Amino acid sequence: MTNFYSLSFPVLPDNLNRQLLQYALDKKDTSGFDVININEVNQETLTFKDFHKETNTNITSYFIIPLSEELKKEIHSFLGDSLFPHSKIDYYLHYIVGDSKFVPHRDPGRTVCFLYNLTDDNADTIWFKSKNNDKKIMYLLNEIDQIESKKFEKHQWYLLNTDEIHAVFGINGPRIGLTCNLTTSFSNITTFESFVKQYDNLLVAENRNRT
Ligand SMILES: [Fe+2]
Repeated sequence: MTNFYSLSFPVLPDNLNRQLLQYALDKKDTSGFDVININEVNQETLTFKDFHKETNTNITSYFIIPLSEELKKEIHSFLGDSLFPHSKIDYYLHYIVGDSKFVPHRDPGRTVCFLYNLTDDNADTIWFKSKNNDKKIMYLLNEIDQIESKKFEKHQWYLLNTDEIHAVFGINGPRIGLTCNLTTSFSNITTFESFVKQYDNLLVAENRNRT
């Protein structure tokens, strides 16, 4: 089983791409948090601070930027509900700053998401398996084995498995994207596999037979 697929959703119109990017740049500083704060809710796990000390990288900042009702409406009306009930999704922006590594982790409370990058930063998103199959939030590199890696293209929709261990390496500029949490919007979507099974018509054809 792979951990990501390209989706057949259309590219957003140029003016909407530009508006979303500008919105992220304008609002970044009002709704961000430093990744270190994530530790406060996961005290039993390895901390981001430990990881950065070990790898000697800088600490990245990660911003979640809720969209204005107006922008949400524009996205919903462009995508429509014929392929997927987009109007039920609370789309938001994320903004990763810096020349850094986003440590191997599993997203707390988010098993599946869509991702649509608004920037082109050449970063690698990498998925891993835990060597001893333990389930926690953060991992050191010696606890995991790499299974696949992908550079996500700008303005292409993807489906990601954020319940499996993943990291973003080689972030060489601001990484800004439109994303969502399908786990909170759809109670019947409990795993990446169940989403793929239910909505396999959304996967682009050349992706459909990848396992
Ligand atoms: Fe993540």
